[in-house]
Amino acid sequence: MRRKIIIDTDPGQDDAVAILLALGSPAEIEVLGIVAVAGNVGLKQNARNALKVVELSGRTETPVYAGCERPMRRVLVTAEYVHGKTGLDGPDLPEPQIKLRDQHGVDFIIETLRREPTGTVTLCALGPLTNLGMAFVKAPDIMPRVQEIILMGGGLFEGGNTTPAAEFNIYVDPEAADVVFHSGIPITMVPLDVTHFMLSTKARVERFRGLGNRTGVATAEMLEFFERFDEQKYGWEGGPLHDPCVIAYLLKPELFKGKHVNVAIETQSELTRGMTVVDYWGVTGRAKNATYLRSGDADGFYELLFERLKTLA
Ligand code: RIB
Ligand code: CA
Repeated sequence: MRRKIIIDTDPGQDDAVAILLALGSPAEIEVLGIVAVAGNVGLKQNARNALKVVELSGRTETPVYAGCERPMRRVLVTAEYVHGKTGLDGPDLPEPQIKLRDQHGVDFIIETLRREPTGTVTLCALGPLTNLGMAFVKAPDIMPRVQEIILMGGGLFEGGNTTPAAEFNIYVDPEAADVVFHSGIPITMVPLDVTHFMLSTKARVERFRGLGNRTGVATAEMLEFFERFDEQKYGWEGGPLHDPCVIAYLLKPELFKGKHVNVAIETQSELTRGMTVVDYWGVTGRAKNATYLRSGDADGFYELLFERLKTLA
């Protein structure tokens, strides 16, 4: 049964690879739409980057929307220091010919969930959770209609990557994350504890470059740019490839291991703002609200990426 998904994203080189993985897997995934959110860089640029990636893939029938341009309460914090000025530095992708849809991305999420049969649409969140949070506030009726939310965000054993306590997607909009984790919707969380082991080593980057298509070359160029910051910071052989893990989990959940736990979001403290307080050992008795992925098979993950991206333009 093909999974119908909406991808909410702030491309971002790693978001771009996740979008390519989804568009390269049409037998298993129907992408109903891609919604941009403010995060890695500003909304307009993230939306433009999403159009460029859809065009790169050749799957130009995929609709792209712009969602919210700032977090629910906080001032927007961006990450040009990681992703470059354009948010998609590395390859020189042409100006997109395809255009954004007029409808606001939050309204697209609401309308789609009201139209599709209940329990048949999965939300794949690759950036700050602002669009999901706003959709659930504007139209609470859609929450029980969502099949599952698979989100890249948070961390526990690996700590944070934006502050010692917080991962970027949750840090940018902790209030939206709090709405999502209180929604009662089945959530699968892909944290830094998984993505830090999916390193884009030189050998893997060369495998992308050698796929034989423009998608492979552009992916190699994206990863070469994107990984430099984390290689410097962590001293690893390659940067962690975060967002494609969300789509890989959808395609091959057996590549990952995790368990059902309670996750709460810090929204009050300035010191630990955006921390995902994961009750991994069940010490609080709080209701379990997320499947927390703890590990993943890096070789299997990259083989899936090579196999699927090879099918694109
Ligand atoms: O912390 C990693 C997350 O922040 C990824 O989604 C990356 O694209 C950035 O948005
Ligand atoms: Ca992202």
